[in-house]
Amino acid sequence: MTEFILQDQPKVVEPTIFGLSSPGRVGVSFPDADVPRAELPESLLRADLPLPELAEVDVVRHYMHLSTFNYSVDSGFYPLGSCTMKYNPKIDEDTCRLPGFLYTHPLQPIETVQGNLALMYTLQEWLKEISGFAAVTLQPAAGAHGEFTGVLIMRAYHKSRGDYKRTKMLIPDSAHGTNPASSGMIGLEVVQIPSDARGNVDLEALKAQCDDTVVGLMLTNPNTLGLFDEHVEEVIKIVHECGGLVYGDGANLNALLGIVRPGDLGFDVMHFNLHKTFAVPHGGGGPGSGPVGVAAHLADFLPEPVVGIIEDGDEEIPPLYGFVRPPKTIGRMKAFHGHFGGGLVRAYTYIAMHGAEGLRQVAEHAVLNANYLQARLRGVYPIPYDRICMHEFVAEGRIEGSDVRALDIAKRLMDYDFHPPTNYFPLIVHEALMIEPTETENKNTLDRFADAMIKIAEEARTQPELLREAPHKTPFGRMDEVRAARELVLCCWLPEEKDEA
Ligand SMILES: Cc1ncc(COP(=O)(O)O)c(C=O)c1O
Repeated sequence: MTEFILQDQPKVVEPTIFGLSSPGRVGVSFPDADVPRAELPESLLRADLPLPELAEVDVVRHYMHLSTFNYSVDSGFYPLGSCTMKYNPKIDEDTCRLPGFLYTHPLQPIETVQGNLALMYTLQEWLKEISGFAAVTLQPAAGAHGEFTGVLIMRAYHKSRGDYKRTKMLIPDSAHGTNPASSGMIGLEVVQIPSDARGNVDLEALKAQCDDTVVGLMLTNPNTLGLFDEHVEEVIKIVHECGGLVYGDGANLNALLGIVRPGDLGFDVMHFNLHKTFAVPHGGGGPGSGPVGVAAHLADFLPEPVVGIIEDGDEEIPPLYGFVRPPKTIGRMKAFHGHFGGGLVRAYTYIAMHGAEGLRQVAEHAVLNANYLQARLRGVYPIPYDRICMHEFVAEGRIEGSDVRALDIAKRLMDYDFHPPTNYFPLIVHEALMIEPTETENKNTLDRFADAMIKIAEEARTQPELLREAPHKTPFGRMDEVRAARELVLCCWLPEEKDEA
């Protein structure tokens, strides 16, 4: 068992550096002007902008200090279920900053950006091979944007066949909120399908909803319980039999890499989250990259343009890459061509580095790590859908003999230097704690985390107030999260009120 030494750290109540503002102190020095001096027009001067006056060193220290408040995947274990906070290899930072990628502009003539286009073309091909789909767009900016794109494609497909009756999207109750949101934004009616006792789609409930008004089903597999649907092929067959299409939410593809291809299972369309599966850094709402793969019958509907070969090469001359317009395209989904440097170059690097064998190991280790943690926590926390999991699992944040809640357990973990797991999602698990260790963590880290969770369960019985008042070690204590979201204060410094008297 890990020996935890929890030191009480003095709380830093507020960043005090702004208090150092002193009239006339400056952090920049400009060279002597080599043009005549002119006064700024009065209309451009704002009297209500009393910014703090500081030296460069004060500003640097202020931001360094603030940066130490951040928890990141580079500073510790981050088992945030569904978000796949795996370590981001630093070589990706080098490649995405190569001058040829960094200093190109999307409006340059294609002859001058052949390297960039070759990378995008190759990435499209790799994603096709990994997923079993016939065609891929790299445009969408994130998973949710990929869903929106995919659902538009599904609707366009039905309409192109004169099938206008289809207005219903079926979505399991374990789904991520973006699934109903994307369908709702397109104006579809969302119909919830319950899960069965083993966490699969309830087949009878699905059959009862399948008719000629169904656009399709949005299915996350493995789902947000971390479980592979045991009847996935039957689920897909049922939807296809009523003329619907099946959308795969590919957020959890990291569990399947090199093992199962969603296209082979019969999915019609799926988004990839490059920022999860292929280790592109993310957090705090972005950046992301959500390419979409489609089966052959949907390829004509992809957003325009996709990268294609517009002139074949031969042994001496490389092919000429350019942009191609799919014949029945739903239109453009994003300005220019997706998140090129931030998402596509990093994902390309990650896939190239791992190769086919390496990607399979990613999935195997992600699944092994999750099952190891699940086994260590079994019996300590209730696990409502207790079977072999994939890359994550969901426990209940409840302890027998204590009234602490999932939120208290999550906050207490911060005192043990761990980022809390996702909590209160998926909605079908009471007091959910959704734990995704990822493949990049070693056994020592997993053991330290399991030991902390076990210790916290013990504390919940003996000293519940320790959990209810947690976190104790962080610069700020327990936040009122609802109020913080509703009444955003984006600036931590405001000028001192002048005493009117
Ligand atoms: C299962 C699932 N689907 C969809 C999404 C949406 O992806 P993004 O955050 O890239 O928009 C997420 C994000 O966490 C997810 O976990």
